[in-house]
Amino acid sequence: MALKIRTDGYCGDMRAVWFEDGEVRMIDQRDLPGKITVVGFSKYADVAEAIQNMTTRGAPSIGASAAYAMCLAALAGDDPNEAAERIRAARPTANDLFYAVEYMLSELRKGADPIAAADGYADMTVDKCTRIGEFGGPLIKDGMKIMTHCNAGALATVDVGTALAPMRKAFTDGRRFFVYVSETRPRLQGMQLTAWELGQEGIDHAVIPDGASAHYMSKGVDMIIVGADRIAANGDFANKIGTLDKAVAAKRFGIPFYVAAPISTFDFNTADGESIVIEERAETEVTEIFGRLIAPEGSRALNPAFDVTPAELVTGFITEKGILPPDGIRGIAS
Ligand code: MRU
Repeated sequence: MALKIRTDGYCGDMRAVWFEDGEVRMIDQRDLPGKITVVGFSKYADVAEAIQNMTTRGAPSIGASAAYAMCLAALAGDDPNEAAERIRAARPTANDLFYAVEYMLSELRKGADPIAAADGYADMTVDKCTRIGEFGGPLIKDGMKIMTHCNAGALATVDVGTALAPMRKAFTDGRRFFVYVSETRPRLQGMQLTAWELGQEGIDHAVIPDGASAHYMSKGVDMIIVGADRIAANGDFANKIGTLDKAVAAKRFGIPFYVAAPISTFDFNTADGESIVIEERAETEVTEIFGRLIAPEGSRALNPAFDVTPAELVTGFITEKGILPPDGIRGIAS
């Protein structure tokens, strides 16, 4: 299933990130939903910068972008270890970034063609998401009310999505349901990206303020599905700030809470959530909107990009290998 684009009369199929004419191309996610801008980079350091400034974002898309960045470094004859170090430094939390860099280093050491290896990595990502959709789709029944947070759709995963994959599958299979999309302050990935993707698909949804999540849960939400940036060996996981609030409220209201993620997001070397590095981003992401100061002059802001939800609040992890309970993830470590 290709990411469908239907804005300004243009209708076509594209991925969130791909390789073409010697360049890594990607949709500039900062311009959505208003404008579809495609940007291209021919140097690995520029792709690392694009990951850092969130031109591309979402753990699996960050992974694929990193794979393509390593591909550019190999094509240019740059030192692979130096390139790997710069790319790894782009963002600290998403495990897929580190997984993809290791994958490319290993493929390049084996003498693989850099473009074929990076394209292969991106294809595998899409394939895993399709399988996440196949395992997760049957959880969604006609008439359900579902809630999601941030963007774990095609934009975040090259194509198809993780949290959105079961929704796409259930919808294509003919079931109809409603999705609460929390706006996801401060960068608004829920409102600007997830709502846009669901609208493209024709899936019924509404954007809600982040603070309205528990309110709607108290009125009746059937299921919550979110993505993840890093899942520790004990099942604690990091995802967009605000995920923890939803998990705690879901427990209070007895709502099943699912995390959809490929195995590349699992970090079996990190014992628990305490050890996950949480990215702190610029204060201005909180205090300004479109470059305009909205906080009192001089007020500080704190801006953790992610929070950690304990495994005990998770009903199941929807992966390409099946739906696993938190105490069942050790089994896939190998
Ligand atoms: O800061 P972002 O936009 O990269 O954060 C994205 C998320 O938190 C997603 O939920 C996560 O990466 C899963 S994407 C399939």
